[in-house]
Amino acid sequence: MSIKCVILAGSPSKSYMYGGEQTTSFTAKLVEEIKSGMADTEFEEIRLADVALPYCRGCYNCFYSGEQFCPHKTLMQPIIEKMKAADCLILSSPVYALHISALVKNFFDLGAYNFHRPSFFTKKAIVVSSTAGGGAATACAYMKSTLKHWGYNRVYKLPVVRMGAVEPKNNLKAKCQKLGKKLYQDTASLKLHSPTYKRIFFYQVWRIMSQKTPGPDKTHWQESGLVNRVFAPGIRLGPFKFLFGKMMHGIMGAAMKNV
Ligand SMILES: Cc1cc2nc3c(=O)[nH]c(=O)nc-3n(C[C@H](O)[C@H](O)[C@H](O)COP(=O)(O)O)c2cc1C
Repeated sequence: MSIKCVILAGSPSKSYMYGGEQTTSFTAKLVEEIKSGMADTEFEEIRLADVALPYCRGCYNCFYSGEQFCPHKTLMQPIIEKMKAADCLILSSPVYALHISALVKNFFDLGAYNFHRPSFFTKKAIVVSSTAGGGAATACAYMKSTLKHWGYNRVYKLPVVRMGAVEPKNNLKAKCQKLGKKLYQDTASLKLHSPTYKRIFFYQVWRIMSQKTPGPDKTHWQESGLVNRVFAPGIRLGPFKFLFGKMMHGIMGAAMKNV
């Protein structure tokens, strides 16, 4: 089965000296290996450094009026539309100062309304981060957590310590390819994995919060029909998770009645 994958590359580096050698983004090299493990996939690659998204201005337009009122919508929305049209995503970031790059953080800031209005429930992703020594696990955990809040059904992590390497070694290449194959197979299977209790909990939080005031959150939850559901459609919860979601919705609804 043929699938579509968007690649969001979060390294600002093009060409640089490393250990006395001229090289290019190490994280991008890992992504190339992941790609080679993915059969029958059409890729669309976006280098965040080339898009040059300006910083989020904190105007709150996306939250209260809609993402179409973001001052940077002409640069931001085409990326989001491509992510929506694709079946899966590969998001990469180098570790800078023990965390994700500012490019990826700014992308997350500009897309923060997706926490309120999750919509990527049928999509799968890989998050990959490379570091000289430390921080890749933290970076991957944060990228995964953000995508899960946006609704992503499954997110695989690949934190890599390069330890002075300019090129990925063969065993690392094999690991990347194996993960690429996994993402391809999982995406092509069309199987939607059951969410964790934590996911079901957050779903109820936004489901209730969205209905408190008129605006784009309320419209999104109502028009999509998500507001009437314990979780997104087409995803099997099983009786315990279903009951948990129902209970959480009831308890939170009562607790936030006058909020
Ligand atoms: C500005 C800057 C900050 C960095 N901060 C860290 C760091 O906190 N910890 C670390 O181990 N490596 C750090 N590194 C090294 C990069 O994480 C590492 O070389 C990474 O593989 C670069 O990926 P890239 O080539 O895809 O940009 C830093 C590199 C730069 C340029």
